[in-house]
Parts: sequence; structure tokens; C-alpha cells
Amino acid sequence: MFSILGTGKAVPDYVMTNDELSTMVETNDEWIRTRTGIEERRICKSETITELTVKAANAALENAGVAPEELDLIICSTMRGENLTPSQACVIQKEIGASCPAFDVNAACSGFIYALDIAAGYYARKKVKKVLIVSMDNLSNITDWTDRSTCVLFGDGGGAAVLGEGDDLLAINLTAEGNDTVLRIPHGTNSSPFYEHEEEKAVLFMAGNEVYKFAVNAMATQIKKSVEDAGLTLDDVDCVIPHQANIRIINTAAKNLAIPREKFFCNVQHYGNTSSGSVPIALDEAARSGLLKKGDIIAMCAFGGGLTTGSCVIRWSKD
Ligand code: ACO
Repeated sequence: MFSILGTGKAVPDYVMTNDELSTMVETNDEWIRTRTGIEERRICKSETITELTVKAANAALENAGVAPEELDLIICSTMRGENLTPSQACVIQKEIGASCPAFDVNAACSGFIYALDIAAGYYARKKVKKVLIVSMDNLSNITDWTDRSTCVLFGDGGGAAVLGEGDDLLAINLTAEGNDTVLRIPHGTNSSPFYEHEEEKAVLFMAGNEVYKFAVNAMATQIKKSVEDAGLTLDDVDCVIPHQANIRIINTAAKNLAIPREKFFCNVQHYGNTSSGSVPIALDEAARSGLLKKGDIIAMCAFGGGLTTGSCVIRWSKD
């Protein structure tokens, strides 16, 4: 199967504070901090998703010591790349100077783990030696900036990982529960003069409480399942990299799993929910901060639109 050889991230420069949001909608710093744990988020002004995905890809390649020409596959997980076609993965391939197959996958916030699972299939078929995964969403483009119940939650940015041959993926699980009522972002445009349905605004709709209940249950159930599938116990887990949506979801998962809270890496305070970018940004920051030690057992778990979940257990073998 594979090992993670390197990671990278890219976030826009602009830092939007809770106080700035309070000037746009009826909210305040205290509500956002206590209900979500979020203090600030990054928002694209001049940066495009192409610039950010390429920056994250190059950072991961450099960290892995892998040249773009060595890549056998590029997978980009995103809900909306720069274009409908070419895929964002093809755009990245061109920009970094690679020549391998490339395609996008959309599993909303669970995209990074879905991409890892797809890559595992390519390794199992011995089709690849080096794979680049880039996970990036630019949610500020599809946020309803007049809806205080959602616009305070999200931010832009993403991360990347370079995989090589190895045996560090110990277990991985995906789920999907088709549901377009609690979380949905319509396309918003239709150029056909023949189509009879009304055009919808391309903004995020979310029934927060429903997603919250789903998320709290998913985090505990899916982490437990992947740890068991790996033949390990929850005590063996050295670090959990959870989807960064809401600090209360992370705290409740820690409690429900009886895994010490200190083992959960958390950076939601700085970025909010960056959708599929969330887990790889956290992985990159945990790795670069020296928190992850060679041989550590890491559980990752994400949930999001679909509704989807992804969880996996990996051994960290990077020095
Ligand atoms: N500022 C001030 N008040 C607010 C705000 C705000 N920004 N937003 C909502 N409120 C009010 C509500 O109107 C409500 O007032 P009321 O009681 O008078 O009606 C009150 O605060 C409580 O609202 P709730 O929705 O019950 O607040 P809750 O504590 O449940 O938090 C939240 C809402 C943060 C959205 C939570 O439900 C959540 O985190 N859900 C999960 C979201 C998630 O993880 N999504 C991931 C998937 S996203 C993707 O895949 C792209």
C-alpha cells in the first residue's frame, strides 16, 4: 500500500476576524467563539484556487523530496475547482509540470480521506509509485454572506500530501448517506433556454443542528471502526486529526471515545471549516510542528456534505 512522504498547505493571506464579521451580520465574537471555537478564518481576495492548490502541491512535493515528473497520479478533492473542465487536478498537473493522469473527486469535507482510499486502490493494483493528493475548497465563493448561521463557520484553504509505496495505511472506511435536505450547495447556473426549472442561488444551505448531530455520532463511530479494523485499541492512538468544523464536535468526540482531548489536533480557531482542506491542513501543521513522531498511530476523520464520512488509521513513518 502506501506511506505519506510529505505534506503541504496553502491558505490565503487575508485574516477575517469575528469582529469584522460582526459588522456584516448580527453576530458577535463571544457567540462565535463559544458555539464554534472559531476566532478567525482566511478568505481569498487576490488568490485563486489554482494558485492555492499549486502552492500546497509544491509544498508537499518539496517536503517529500519528490519531483513532479515522478508522479504517477494526481487526485484533487474539491467541490468546485477553477473550471468545470479541465478538472482542478489537470490544472495542477500543468502548473507543476507533471505528466501523469489526473482527476477530481467531490466528497465535500470528507474529500481528502476519499482521495486516500482511491489512491489505496491504485497501490493495490500496483499501478502507481508516487501519488499527489491536493484537497482544497474556496467556500467564501459559495457562502451566503447574509446568513449568520452559516457565514461565520467557513474559511478558504487546503492541503496536500505526497504518497509513496509503504505499509502505513492500516485501515480506511468511507460512508455516504445520500441527503440533500440538511446540507446543499446548488450549482446556480444553467445556460439552457429549454430547461423548465427555476435557477437557484449558488450558496450554501445547512441545517446546522442536523449536521451537528450527524457529525458527533460519525466522529466517534467512524474513528472506533477504523481503529478496530486496524487491529488496534483506542489507547494505541497517539494523535487524532479530526475535521475542523466546530470545537464542540471535537470535544464531544474526545469524550465519547475516552481518548484524551490533548491527543486531538485542533486549529479550527484559525481557519474555521475549510471543507476538504481541513484535515490535510491540520495534518501538515501537526507534522511540521514536530507533534507527529516516527511510529505514531494517527486516526483521521472527516464528515460533511453528501452526507459523507471518511476515517482512516495510519502509521507515521516520516522522520
Ligand atoms: N451569531 C449569533 N447568534 C446566532 C448565530 C450567529 N452567528 N447563528 C445562529 N445564532 C442564533 C440562532 O438564531 C439561535 O437563536 P434562537 O435560539 O433565538 O433561535 C441560537 O443562536 C442558537 O442557534 P443554534 O443553531 O441552535 O446554535 P448551535 O449551538 O446549534 O450552533 C452551529 C450552530 C454552529 C451551526 C452548529 O449546529 C454546528 O456546528 N453544526 C455543524 C456544522 C458542520 O459541522 N458542518 C460540516 C459540514 S459543512 C460542509 O461539508 C461544507
